[in-house]
Amino acid sequence: MNKKSAKNATEKSAENTAITARLKAKLPALAVLAVVVGGAWVMINQSMQQSGSATVEVNVPALSALGQQGEKAFAANCAECHGVNAAGGEGGPPLVHKIYNPGHHADGAFSLALQRGVSQHHWRFGNMPPQPQVSAADTGAIIRYVRELQVANGIGYEPHRMQ
Ligand code: HEC
Repeated sequence: MNKKSAKNATEKSAENTAITARLKAKLPALAVLAVVVGGAWVMINQSMQQSGSATVEVNVPALSALGQQGEKAFAANCAECHGVNAAGGEGGPPLVHKIYNPGHHADGAFSLALQRGVSQHHWRFGNMPPQPQVSAADTGAIIRYVRELQVANGIGYEPHRMQ
C-alpha cells in the first residue's frame, strides 16, 4: 500500500463513520416517522373496513303512500348519516340490516332513538344525536319506510336471542 492509497483509505473510513453517525442521529426521527405512518395506515385501514362493511346494497320496492312520506322524511333527516335508502353512510350504519329487524329493534326502538339519541354500541360511528325536529307522523312514516325496505331486502322478523 503506498502512502496515497493509505490516506484515501483513512479518509474513506472517516467518511463512513460520519455517515453512520448521521444515520444514528436520525434513527429516533425515523422511528417516530415509522410509528406515525404505521398509525395512519391502521386508521385509514380501519375506516375503510368500517365504511366498506357497513354499506349494503338496497333494492327499493314500490312503496306505500306512508312509505313514500317516510322516504322523504328519511332523506331530509337521516340519510346524511344512514345513507340514501338507509344503505349506510359516513356517519351511521345501514338500517336495512338484519340487526334492525323488528325482532331486535322493534318500532319503539326507532321512536326512542329519535327522542333520546343512541349511544354508540353496535358500530363505531359514535353516538346518534336525538332528532327532535322529526314529528310523530314523520317518525311513523319513516318506520314504515324502513320496514318496507327491510322486507324487500329479505329482512323479516327474527326473535331476539342474547348470545
Ligand atoms: C348524525 C348522524 C345520525 C343521524 C342524523 C341519524 N342517525 Fe340514527 N344512528 C346513528 C348512529 C351512529 C347509530 C348507531 C349507534 C350504534 O349502535 O353504535 C344510529 C342508530 C340508529 C338506530 C338504531 C337504534 C338502536 O336502538 O340501536 C335507529 C333506529 C336509527 N339510528 C334511526 C335513525 C333515523 C330514523 C334517523 C332520522 C330521523 C336517524 N337515525 C338519524 C347516526 C345518526
